[in-house]
Amino acid sequence: MLDTTPVANHLGFFALISYIITLLPTTLRVVFPRTKKTEIPKLLLKYRRQIGVVAFLFALGHGILLVRKRNFDFFALQTYWIYVQGVVTFIIFTLLTITSNDWSVKKLKRNWKKLHELTYLAMFLLVWHVIDKMWGHWSYVTPFGILGITTITILFIVRRLRERRNKVSKLKSIKQLTINN
Ligand code: HEM
Repeated sequence: MLDTTPVANHLGFFALISYIITLLPTTLRVVFPRTKKTEIPKLLLKYRRQIGVVAFLFALGHGILLVRKRNFDFFALQTYWIYVQGVVTFIIFTLLTITSNDWSVKKLKRNWKKLHELTYLAMFLLVWHVIDKMWGHWSYVTPFGILGITTITILFIVRRLRERRNKVSKLKSIKQLTINN
């Protein structure tokens, strides 16, 4: 039997979906190159920052409601261990939201890219978060959440493998060119 779904869970689910949407454009471009010709990745890329802020706001609402519901004890270390994936993901979302503007891109230079790579850590943490926190009491949104976050994680792994393969073959052809010359 699936549990009824409280507002807090809906907010968590909407945060998850908005966050997945921010990961889609780059992933689709590499894994399904044909999508480059369509307008979808372009549109998603154009509004990525705004969608990221929406994900943060949903996560904030989700976090606040669950902190209240579960009497989160901010002074007990154990609490942070229980909620480690949620808390770390929330810190990452906050950092990304604060720095999602042209001013931060200019100020942080190369570090901006490094900081924003944290989004991929959040992805793995969220797979763990949803499975761990919903274990044994799935709501009706849980299967969709798990399907969404594991699919994007698998696509991300495929993307990284392809990028590595492309890099290696590029290096090989440069080497071949230098030998021929
Ligand atoms: C920051 C990004 C976060 C996202 C995207 C997120 C997302 C989610 C999702 C999708 C679920 C499953 C909902 C369902 O299937 O019904 C969930 C459950 C849960 N989350 Fe989060 N979460 C985040 C942060 C947090 C934080 C900071 C806390 C700390 C209190 C937290 C505590 C929980 C708890 C306790 C549950 C289980 C709820 C239940 O038992 O019904 N989450 N979260």
